[in-house]
Amino acid sequence: MAKIRIGLGVTGGIAAYKAIEVMRLLQKSGCEVSVAMTRHATEFIQPLTFRALTDKHVIVDDYDPANPDPIAHINFSQEIDLLLIVPATANIIAKFASGIADDFLSSTYLASTAPVMIAPAMNVTMWEQAATQRNIERLKADGVHFVEPVAGELACKTVGTGKLEDVENIVDQALKLLAVPPAVAGGTDMSGEQILITVGGTREAIDPVRFISNHSSGKMGFALAEAAVARGAEVTVVAGAVSVEPPEGVKVVSGISAQEMFDAVMTELPDATVFIGAAAVADYAPADAADAKIKKEGRETMTLELKKTPDILSEVSERRTEGQLVVGFAAETNDVVGYARSKMEKKGLDLVIANDITAKGAGFNSDTNIATMITRSSESELPLMSKRKMADKILDEILNLRKAVPANAARSGNS
Ligand SMILES: Cc1cc2nc3c(=O)[nH]c(=O)nc-3n(C[C@H](O)[C@H](O)[C@H](O)COP(=O)(O)O)c2cc1C
Repeated sequence: MAKIRIGLGVTGGIAAYKAIEVMRLLQKSGCEVSVAMTRHATEFIQPLTFRALTDKHVIVDDYDPANPDPIAHINFSQEIDLLLIVPATANIIAKFASGIADDFLSSTYLASTAPVMIAPAMNVTMWEQAATQRNIERLKADGVHFVEPVAGELACKTVGTGKLEDVENIVDQALKLLAVPPAVAGGTDMSGEQILITVGGTREAIDPVRFISNHSSGKMGFALAEAAVARGAEVTVVAGAVSVEPPEGVKVVSGISAQEMFDAVMTELPDATVFIGAAAVADYAPADAADAKIKKEGRETMTLELKKTPDILSEVSERRTEGQLVVGFAAETNDVVGYARSKMEKKGLDLVIANDITAKGAGFNSDTNIATMITRSSESELPLMSKRKMADKILDEILNLRKAVPANAARSGNS
């Protein structure tokens, strides 16, 4: 198969150094990378770095007499299968949107017929600025693909959207756009695993109209599903109430109430090699859901009697078969690690991810998370990072545990 040729455009933002990692990952995935830099990008990182790693001249200025190609912007632009800009400044986005061609990279954009993917990174105010958003909309209308920045702590010490998406995700999306199969992209370390994940919150009916629920969005569970699929696993998700779309390539089964989620999990469990309980399952549900809408007339107060819901994690642990690994999440507000450890013991888990949901940048509905990853023999901190990146860290730990518990090998019991 001919190598896929990527033109990597690097612009003058603080995240310019991350373009090196993007280039390396693309090369590892079998792509041939040629790099173009804006003059401002060279203030952050030397062209020599890219030149040494690609063994090609890095074009900054096509007027430079040292440039081996006299009409580089035309030749470069026609010899690539994708123009990928990492990181993209607000400035280059504005120039692309307006058709300005006053340097090599912007001339290349105009001269190219290859698809274009842009991964912006900038201060949150620059990102939210009406002009920037307007330029992005124009480029999207022109067919340009974006890898949106994520929320997190920015170089300027503010927290907000503007941080470059994880380099792994950028490369993943670029390869997806070019329809490069995951095997070529190198994502096979979880092949053979069948991962069952619960996702989202549950809804416990009070009557046909009302329910008790929680703030879970499903983002963490879906990030795990997406990461596992990208690494070659087969993934089944039992989804409760979620506010985001499931990733491609996963089987989705619905389990909206705790009881429905329990039933769906027990049906799917025999096929799973790994169970991950990422859903926020209600501990209690109304003891008797009313068949008809409860009327408020004549009631100043209302008392709901609640009953315990079935404990999915404990039951999974109880029923598990040879080689199955069981992973739980513990979302807490105080003594997070202490509660998580006792959850691990009580429920016989192999791994627990402990979240302080009150921490800034962590917990429900956020695109980022902060956690402590606990096994029986280790404890490691996962500092503020995107949920997608955290998903990969969790899967790395699962593969670590797998070394001690081969799939389908005899286990000594539940502990
Ligand atoms: C220290 C420093 C960091 C910067 N970081 C960013 C950034 O992350 N994103 C951005 O859009 N602009 C950033 N800028 C501003 C750009 O460098 C500036 O708009 C420049 O004109 C961009 O040129 P280029 O798009 O041709 O590379 C930064 C400037 C400085 C001095």
